[in-house]
Amino acid sequence: MRNRQLWMTGACDWLIIKAPAFQYSADLVADLERRMEMMEKEKGANAARGYKRRMADQTMVLLLLHITIILIIINTIHQSPMSLPSLKEYRRNPYEATSPSRPELSQAGRTVVVTGGNSGIGYAIARNFVKASAKRVIILGRRPDVVKSAADRLVQEGKEDGSPSLVEGRVCDVGSLEATEALWSGLEKEGIFVDVLVLSAASHGKVSPILKSDLGSVWGDFEANVRSLLDFTQRFYNQKGKGATERKFLVNISTIAAYMWGSMAPERPTYGLTKNAGTTLIQQIAKDTDVNDMQIVSFHPGGVLTDMARAAGASEEMGIPFDDENLPGQMAVWAASREAEYLHGRFVWANWDVDEVKKVLGKQIAEEPNFLKVGMEGLSESMPNPMIPPEMLEKIMKFQQDLQAKLEAQK
Ligand SMILES: NC(=O)c1ccc[n+]([C@@H]2O[C@H](COP(=O)([O-])OP(=O)(O)OC[C@H]3O[C@@H](n4cnc5c(N)ncnc54)[C@H](OP(=O)(O)O)[C@@H]3O)[C@@H](O)[C@H]2O)c1
Repeated sequence: MRNRQLWMTGACDWLIIKAPAFQYSADLVADLERRMEMMEKEKGANAARGYKRRMADQTMVLLLLHITIILIIINTIHQSPMSLPSLKEYRRNPYEATSPSRPELSQAGRTVVVTGGNSGIGYAIARNFVKASAKRVIILGRRPDVVKSAADRLVQEGKEDGSPSLVEGRVCDVGSLEATEALWSGLEKEGIFVDVLVLSAASHGKVSPILKSDLGSVWGDFEANVRSLLDFTQRFYNQKGKGATERKFLVNISTIAAYMWGSMAPERPTYGLTKNAGTTLIQQIAKDTDVNDMQIVSFHPGGVLTDMARAAGASEEMGIPFDDENLPGQMAVWAASREAEYLHGRFVWANWDVDEVKKVLGKQIAEEPNFLKVGMEGLSESMPNPMIPPEMLEKIMKFQQDLQAKLEAQK
């Protein structure tokens, strides 16, 4: 019995030693066998068995090391900054498909307004509309000196690029209803029709739990990040007159913090809250808006080391790769083109390659009305719905259809 056990242990040891060695070469296996025979002849069977045991242990350790390395690699791939595992490409720099010099993305003849266009991502967006030959680019901000110097810089950049764009900076606090009324009525009086609206200005919120902040401060973030979106979108949509094209284009600069609550600016709870609410607002507007009247796309601009990011404590010392500001800059131009039509009402990332998104996710986007939209984590409206029995759902759907028909008849 003991002999059998010893034989089995020895055979197992052999397997452990020889199996990996086989992967490398038959010579290595032959060499191992020769060494065993010599050991057995010179030092006896027990010594040879002990040697074999030690070699098996060493091989096992090496094997475990290999497996650990493979697991680390797999884990790293999974933790790469990719929120949709089906997408392989992760863009950090501007790329050809969203280049403003592509004729398909030309903004010629259009007037573009960029809120918060006086710095950071908004400025990069304005720059790319200038590169895309927009007729007029108007940037908005609150600080007159920053608005002026940004507009001057844009004019200079436009000249160097040979762009025909007229660039203007206007001072406007998007959170103030008086200021926005003055802006939009002024545009109307001047006969300026806005074709593309980019909503980039935002309040970053206070570092404070909501209940430790005063009402005015929390509500102020709603005014800047939600009400201003509604105010601008309504005024933009309801403009009198005719634009360069039948279709208007609305681009909303959202954020990853609108759904990553615990890791992205959790110390500023009103930021994620109001950016989420703003993105949902834009999504709900898109639901009831024909894309041919107004095309609407929201996107996360990536991680750009802007003034806002620095004010929140981000810096080069963090050791993370920040994205080029022209990545979202170009993405906004692409989002204001017909190529982005199929994303009407959805949320994407500037880091996702637009061609790959279309190729890999196009079918899912066409088939799932709530895919890439704000919802409740873990719950979905997918049909059949596990929570609502089909016969009940059928009745609810019938009720909705009848209601819709009544509303249509009343129009
Ligand atoms: N940076 C990132 O990595 C990142 C990541 C995710 C999302 N985002 C989003 O990207 C957008 C731009 O952010 P950013 O990082 O470029 O910030 P930024 O450098 O601070 O630029 C924000 C701009 O908005 C203007 N602004 C702020 N409040 C305004 C108001 N009430 N009325 C008019 N203008 C106002 C500011 O100018 P004034 O102070 O002169 O008004 C400033 O020019 C924001 O919507 C933000 O949520 C940024």
